[in-house]
Amino acid sequence: MNLKSKNIVSVRDLSKEEIKTILQKAKEMEELLNSNKSLDTMRGKILANMFFEPSTRTKFSFASAMQKLGGQVLTLEDTESTSIVKGESLIDTIKMMEKYSDLIVIRHPREGSARLAAEVSSKPVINGGDGANQHPTQTLLDLYTIRRLKGKIEGLNVALIGDLKHGRVMKSLAYALARLDARLTLIAPIGMEMPQVIVEELIEKFDADIMRTTSITSGIKEADVAYVCRVQTERFEDVYEAEKMQRAFRITQDVLKHAKDELIILHALPKTTEIDPKIDETRYAKYYQQAFYGVPVRMAIISLLVK
Ligand code: CP
Repeated sequence: MNLKSKNIVSVRDLSKEEIKTILQKAKEMEELLNSNKSLDTMRGKILANMFFEPSTRTKFSFASAMQKLGGQVLTLEDTESTSIVKGESLIDTIKMMEKYSDLIVIRHPREGSARLAAEVSSKPVINGGDGANQHPTQTLLDLYTIRRLKGKIEGLNVALIGDLKHGRVMKSLAYALARLDARLTLIAPIGMEMPQVIVEELIEKFDADIMRTTSITSGIKEADVAYVCRVQTERFEDVYEAEKMQRAFRITQDVLKHAKDELIILHALPKTTEIDPKIDETRYAKYYQQAFYGVPVRMAIISLLVK
């Protein structure tokens, strides 16, 4: 399957076969990383890492992935040091960066910004997160983690837990899991549910098997994977309401008494209060390993997209 020059803006743009190709390539990349062989398949190539919102994992794992492949990285993270402060548009900024690079990664607070960038760039564009919309490479590494740790995705019961209204990671992941025939349990407090329009699309277009509940303890019982996300306080108008939700909706050791022994807990990170820190040291917690898989998965994506 040839993915050269493809944009990755939404997981909805990726077929099942394309997702499988990326996951297969990521496995090769993980093996190469573990063998400590130096790679230079991207020698002479440049990745433009354009971050208009803060990031630790996405920004640095893309940079690490490109450098592990022998390529180089240009980083935009402080718009104050660019001509954007003089009023230059996003479109013109992208038109410049595509001249200076072979691949663009963009994170931007505005939904649709990555799609816009892809429309004006002749080089492939990867959405590193656009507002509350999509974060497709996070989804690819989540799928990789699930398959790596559970041996399969199809048929698993994956509970998505937390702020499903604002979490772009959860929306991207829900589409991909439905496409790969996992079962979904959506667990969110009242007011933070997955938007109805998305649930309907998942059921109608992806034939998704979905259970919805507001109770963590009942929703987690049948789960093979609990994917937790933080309350996206930065996307709330009322910060006190967000903090109230944060306190009320947590994974604790008491909650885990209701879970299967072989449950794994994933989280895109950063996390704040939604998982009791005592759980970090338990067998359930796999989120730091998940973050590591961001490197081989992004190495795979870069290798497949760049000509
Ligand atoms: N998971 C994730 O997107 O983390 P960052 O916001 O740190 O990139």
